[in-house]
Amino acid sequence: MRHRLDGSVVVITGASSGIGAALACRCAEQGARVVLAARRADRLAGVARTCTGEPLPVACDVTLAADRARLVETALEHYGQIDVLINNAGIGLYAPFEATAETDLRAVFEVDFFAVFLMSQAVLPSMRAVGRGAIVNVASTGGLVAHTTNVSGYLAAKHAVVGMSRGLRRDLAGTGITVQVVCPHLTNTDFFGAGIGADAMQPVVEPVREKMDTPEEVATGTVSQIGAGPFLVFPTQRAQAAFARFLEA
Ligand SMILES: NC(=O)c1ccc[n+]([C@@H]2O[C@H](COP(=O)([O-])OP(=O)(O)OC[C@H]3O[C@@H](n4cnc5c(N)ncnc54)[C@H](OP(=O)(O)O)[C@@H]3O)[C@@H](O)[C@H]2O)c1
Repeated sequence: MRHRLDGSVVVITGASSGIGAALACRCAEQGARVVLAARRADRLAGVARTCTGEPLPVACDVTLAADRARLVETALEHYGQIDVLINNAGIGLYAPFEATAETDLRAVFEVDFFAVFLMSQAVLPSMRAVGRGAIVNVASTGGLVAHTTNVSGYLAAKHAVVGMSRGLRRDLAGTGITVQVVCPHLTNTDFFGAGIGADAMQPVVEPVREKMDTPEEVATGTVSQIGAGPFLVFPTQRAQAAFARFLEA
């Protein structure tokens, strides 16, 4: 059976671990030609080895304009097109509201919001030229509701991604280019040890790790809906249920 992504060129940011790495392998399994982007070249090479096909690793920092441009140019040089951009790179920010440092707030917005906006801008000319494409922005249930405490800066960045995506979707109506937002809930990845304020977050998160979704479950639920599902993609039942539970919290 031919998969929907068969032959498609899929660029995935934050592909060196967690959800991004799982997305990369899931897309590759479906026959996509995958471009893996993140800062850690060694981790990208490891992910490329575990996926089927020959994923193309591009070490880059999505907060840097030159790196974003090089990522898009490299993908276009190799494959001539970009069918799907998955803006997945992200970091957390765990801090009480009054104690959130301005530098930390800005750092989170650089990765979680500005890079998503600017990567989407960077791929649009090539997608418009062929009249098709899919932009998939990985936000969070925290982009729709306040799913926990002491993460207001992170929630703000993820809500901004959802708002931007809604606007872009309307702007692109009729162009053949789709825009979707993925809203995972708690997922068992390195995320909780990697972000700003991770030391304070670890003890809160560790007791519930076993109850979290796996990155593979999130990737499977996401890939099945790319380009064909609704605007808001809940990749798992747990994510859908969490959204409903926290809506009025
Ligand atoms: N885990 C959860 O519970 C959860 C829930 C909802 C939404 N999410 C979202 O899902 C996405 C993936 O997170 P994850 O859970 O898979 O966490 P993760 O395992 O920590 O992965 C984050 C990825 O982002 C990359 N990254 C961070 N800063 C970057 C930068 N400046 N430039 C390029 N790449 C960068 C990291 O790679 P390098 O360090 O190699 O650059 C890594 O590959 C994030 O957007 C996160 O907000 C996660």
